[in-house]
Amino acid sequence: MLGFAGHGRATSRMPPVECADQAAPPILSLEGVTKRFKAGRQWVEILKGVELVVRRGQVVALVGPSGVGKSTLFHIIAGLLEADAGAAEFQGMVLPLKATHQGRQAMSLVFQDPYSALSPHLSVVDTILEPLRIKGHKENLYDRVRQVLAAVNLAPAESYVNRYPGQLSGGQRQRVAIARAIVTEPALLLADEPTSMLDASAGIGILNLLRGLAEGGTAVLITVHDLASACYVADHLAILETGEIVEEGAPQAILAHPVRPITRSLMAAARSFCTANSELEL
Ligand SMILES: Nc1ncnc2c1ncn2[C@@H]1O[C@H](COP(=O)(O)OP(=O)(O)OP(=O)(O)O)[C@@H](O)[C@H]1O
Ligand SMILES: [Mg+2]
Repeated sequence: MLGFAGHGRATSRMPPVECADQAAPPILSLEGVTKRFKAGRQWVEILKGVELVVRRGQVVALVGPSGVGKSTLFHIIAGLLEADAGAAEFQGMVLPLKATHQGRQAMSLVFQDPYSALSPHLSVVDTILEPLRIKGHKENLYDRVRQVLAAVNLAPAESYVNRYPGQLSGGQRQRVAIARAIVTEPALLLADEPTSMLDASAGIGILNLLRGLAEGGTAVLITVHDLASACYVADHLAILETGEIVEEGAPQAILAHPVRPITRSLMAAARSFCTANSELEL
């Protein structure tokens, strides 16, 4: 069994470990994505040339400790932040890495923080209907709302549709945010730490939902801190360390032969958590 081997500096990116799903067509490709932020008087490079491919029907988990730039990368992909350098393609078209909605009609983002993600002035039904209305849909809207609320385990729909975000728990808000993101049936769903506000069983429910979406053909890119959730849900792991993807591949292949110290550290953390829990009498 491999244990934690201490942090070392990655000198170069590891080649991805190929697996069967790698044959599916890419829906999103990123090349050399770079982003700097000003910290006081200095510029700090948060993303240092990220390369990543997400394929149709795949769940890709971007895994890494806090502060490595996971949300920053998601905000760039979703067009909320401009990258300093890099190139991207989405559905075979050039995706401008600028703060723009252009080219992003077929993607949805679930924000990490469900408290700021929902407008306090919109009821649950209006929150979920908003993206459909923007796209000009007019028919069977309430049936669709009921369907997506059931999919995120908020049932019966009548108990939730007229509530405002202030009348929901953090976990319920996160599920409404996910319902809103999937209501338009996006080709790519970006889910930034979608289970961090949920209890364990609700979290597993959301991971199963994301897997189900992928099996229906949606591409899902998810960020998580913990390797156990990543391995549960993903076909492909990408380990992000200080702004670079340093190791990637199928979960089984990475767990069998972790190369980077950061990967071994994430494995050791997941293993300690599982061992501690297995000692509890449940
Ligand atoms: N607008 C900003 N201005 C300056 N620094 C920023 C800004 N946004 C993020 N940062 C910094 O960039 C780094 C990466 O932040 P980011 O939110 O992407 O991390 P993360 O990997 O998502 O972390 P977590 O797992 O805690 O959500 C952090 O050090 C953060 O402080
Ligand atoms: Mg984050």
